[in-house]
Amino acid sequence: MEIKTDIYLGDSKDVLKKISDNTVDLIVTSPPYADQRNGTYGGIRHDKYVDWFLPISEQLLRVLKPTGTFILNIKEKVVDGERSTYVMELILAMRRQGWLWTEEFIWHKKNSYPGKWPNRFRDAWERLLQFNKDKKFHMYQDEVMVPTGEWSKSRLKNLSATDKIRDNSKVGSGFGKNISNWLYRDKAYPNNVLHLATECSNKNHSAAFPEELPEWFIKLFTIENDLVLDPFMGSGTTLLVANRMKRHSIGIDNVPEYYEMVKKQINPLELYLLEPKEKYEKPKPVRRHSLRLKQHSNFS
Ligand SMILES: C[S@@+](CC[C@H](N)C(=O)[O-])C[C@H]1O[C@@H](n2cnc3c(N)ncnc32)[C@H](O)[C@@H]1O
Repeated sequence: MEIKTDIYLGDSKDVLKKISDNTVDLIVTSPPYADQRNGTYGGIRHDKYVDWFLPISEQLLRVLKPTGTFILNIKEKVVDGERSTYVMELILAMRRQGWLWTEEFIWHKKNSYPGKWPNRFRDAWERLLQFNKDKKFHMYQDEVMVPTGEWSKSRLKNLSATDKIRDNSKVGSGFGKNISNWLYRDKAYPNNVLHLATECSNKNHSAAFPEELPEWFIKLFTIENDLVLDPFMGSGTTLLVANRMKRHSIGIDNVPEYYEMVKKQINPLELYLLEPKEKYEKPKPVRRHSLRLKQHSNFS
């Protein structure tokens, strides 16, 4: 099946109206944060942020399938010595709009920006808020299992038999009872903290995702041929990862340079796939994995 990647230049608030209801399986995105990056792609004031975002999240709610998931990467900054509350206000407003706030994952930025402040330490994490339309959504937990590694063997083996019995009988925690399960497993479910370095390679975008970030959520919430949307695509990380993982994708950005940059990244692959087929005699039937570029550059 052909894998499609559609990109759009324009304001998400308007462009999203072109997408049909209940068609998207996963939205992974990082919008501009309030009061940040005014010089590159425009910042929205923290006290205006909720009003700015709600018409966009209204469209996202419409296009997401009831079984789908929305992952929103965001973080409040410090304003006048206090953390701004706009993210909390946004969560409450989105719940009133009809979203369920299912979960909050933490992105621990392993290479956070160094620095020292008199009243706080350096900021090493961002929020990855999970919203859903319905309590029953698709989640493929086995796809993100992690190796238990040596720690379980050494850590658990060091506990004496009495320790295990004592845990069972006195505390009633069930720890002793469950320990044998852990000893023979080589994989476990992860927790809700993702330890990823920020993207430092030259991506020509000041806030690009590390590829592992959309990849993890794409694995967890979609299967092949599902549709992934990034309404603030920037350098197109989500789309490129989705394509590599054989998921259809749609990306939107309102800055022409970013749109052109993503288009260029998609084009070489497309040219490769459009190579003349006559070169090959009787090609074997293979699974097609191709890219389609749709340009809609005249949205206001
Ligand atoms: C934080 S960046 C996204 C970076 C992206 N995750 C990546 O990996 O490169 C946010 C992007 O949203 C775009 N943007 C800001 N306002 C927008 C709007 N109203 N509609 C569409 N895109 C917008 C900006 O141009 C910027 O590229």
